[in-house]
Amino acid sequence: MSKVTAKAPANIAFIKYWGKKDEALRLPLNSSLSMNLSHVFTLTTVDFLSDLAEDEIEMGGEKLVGEEAERIIEHLERVRKLASIKLKAKVKTKNNFPKGTGIASSASGFAALTLASTKAAGLNLSEKKLSILARLGSGSACRSIPDGFVEWLKGNSHQTSYAHSLYPPDYWDLVDIIAVVTKKGKKVSSAEGHGRAESSLFLSARVRAMGAKVRLLKKTFKEKNFTKLGEIIEEETLNMHAVMMTSKPSIIYWLPKTIQLMLAIRQWRQEGLESYFTIDAGATVHIICLKKDAGKIKEKVLRLRGIDRVIVNYPASGAKLVKSYLF
Ligand code: PMV
Repeated sequence: MSKVTAKAPANIAFIKYWGKKDEALRLPLNSSLSMNLSHVFTLTTVDFLSDLAEDEIEMGGEKLVGEEAERIIEHLERVRKLASIKLKAKVKTKNNFPKGTGIASSASGFAALTLASTKAAGLNLSEKKLSILARLGSGSACRSIPDGFVEWLKGNSHQTSYAHSLYPPDYWDLVDIIAVVTKKGKKVSSAEGHGRAESSLFLSARVRAMGAKVRLLKKTFKEKNFTKLGEIIEEETLNMHAVMMTSKPSIIYWLPKTIQLMLAIRQWRQEGLESYFTIDAGATVHIICLKKDAGKIKEKVLRLRGIDRVIVNYPASGAKLVKSYLF
């Protein structure tokens, strides 16, 4: 038993996960593809201690209680079971970005927790096993374990649904410029949203087309065809948000600034500056471009008023152990 810290990136999905075929195991309706992000991450330190009566969890300097704490404790239980230990844990975690705004904090959070807690419990799991375990905490967290550009295979059982690396981070010079349009967290969590997906009439049409879309995106990656990639990710974003908006009750994650940015990106394209939008479960816009254009696009975003924060990201490694400790 030892004190361990892990760092894990958030990831942006190019092909998204929305809706589950198994609630408890978090098996997704479709496979998804993502890129790990260099500048938005979670650091988590875990130590299993003999003198603790309860798990103690601190996030961003504050004691965590309620549902969020419960979800972390459930994950620690999974790790205790695997390691055959009973010790309670001290967990300290912090994100370097705002939570609940459409930057996947549950992805980086559960990936870092999975790596730190299994190591702290004396386990030495393979990347595949870590990804499977991270998935039980939050679906998209399984994609923050492997490096670079990642595919989450939907699988049809607990053991066959996990993420693996398609390409290392230096494979393609893509940049994700994150434009945070509000500090306020979203009203409907993605966990709740997934459960509503079934109530949209559009879900079956979406799911039917997913296999072909995943194959097409993988081909696009192989050919490094940026224009094709952009077309696919914008369609995919609108497609998922159409399901969200038409579910019952309906979910609208966008704000006026979100739409303003989507239209501005299309306008910049017409003027010869190529970038594309993708949006997860929130109002935040992720602008995907090539490295050569990132400076110009960042300037353009900063010139629009009312953008809360801009974070430039390069493709990154997955979850890794680090040598510093948060306590
Ligand atoms: O892993 P969750 O439950 O936070 O769901 C993530 C859902 C999206 O971010 C909208 C899509 C995705 O694949 O990351």
